[in-house]
Amino acid sequence: MKIGIVGAGNVGKLYGEQWVKRGHEVAFSYVRDLGRLEDFVGRLGSLACVLEVEKVAAFSDVVVFAPPFELIAHAAALVGPASGKVVVDTTNPFNPERTGLVDLGTNTSSAKVADLFPDAFVVKALHNLSVDQAAVAINQTPSVIFIAGDNNEAKDTVARLVVDAGLIPFDTGELTTADLSEAPGPLFMNVYSMSAVADAVAIARG
Ligand SMILES: NC(=O)c1ccc[n+]([C@@H]2O[C@H](COP(=O)([O-])OP(=O)(O)OC[C@H]3O[C@@H](n4cnc5c(N)ncnc54)[C@H](OP(=O)(O)O)[C@@H]3O)[C@@H](O)[C@H]2O)c1
Repeated sequence: MKIGIVGAGNVGKLYGEQWVKRGHEVAFSYVRDLGRLEDFVGRLGSLACVLEVEKVAAFSDVVVFAPPFELIAHAAALVGPASGKVVVDTTNPFNPERTGLVDLGTNTSSAKVADLFPDAFVVKALHNLSVDQAAVAINQTPSVIFIAGDNNEAKDTVARLVVDAGLIPFDTGELTTADLSEAPGPLFMNVYSMSAVADAVAIARG
């Protein structure tokens, strides 16, 4: 699969590296420090490349959208509409200082990202574990990554990428159900095994 990463930071690099190891072609984009990214990509080999963010949608089967929350509109404008593409929303609504959450009222970061890509299939995923938790899960004990979205085919594609990253996908339903697993939802930053997750989701749903 061709995967384009928008925001090649903690999240983008962690998952991008796993996908390259599984034979996917991965393009990394949207950084300030291009030299550091080129060093990282150079170490991953020929399946990885650095790409201008404006070219990512055309390159990709799946766009992994992983900018800091305060830059989602800026990054999305550079990506363009990504019409018909699967867009994985990894974001959580942290403030620019990372000291707490932005008050979105009853809104969610998923809804904000879906508004920015109205012609794409937006799937929430890769958001519920910190990169430290995810690294442990990938390297030691696989745990659950929650998926939410309105298109089943797009969710199947993202579930395969979660498996290829060494983790366990769990579908909570439509995109609106991402409020359970993105910050500040009850499932956010809790580590679940496959045997524990169904009960946890039932409790979170009330
Ligand atoms: N960190 C986590 O544990 C975690 C876990 C799950 C989900 N998330 C969510 O996933 C998203 C990405 O998190 P992250 O920790 O990976 O973010 P990050 O590393 O802070 O930033 C992502 C990328 O954005 C780039 N960037 C920042 N400002 C920019 C600008 N003005 N122009 C162009 N590029 C810019 C950074 O470039 P440089 O590298 O050059 O600075 C970085 O590569 C966030 O929305 C976060 O809430 C984070």
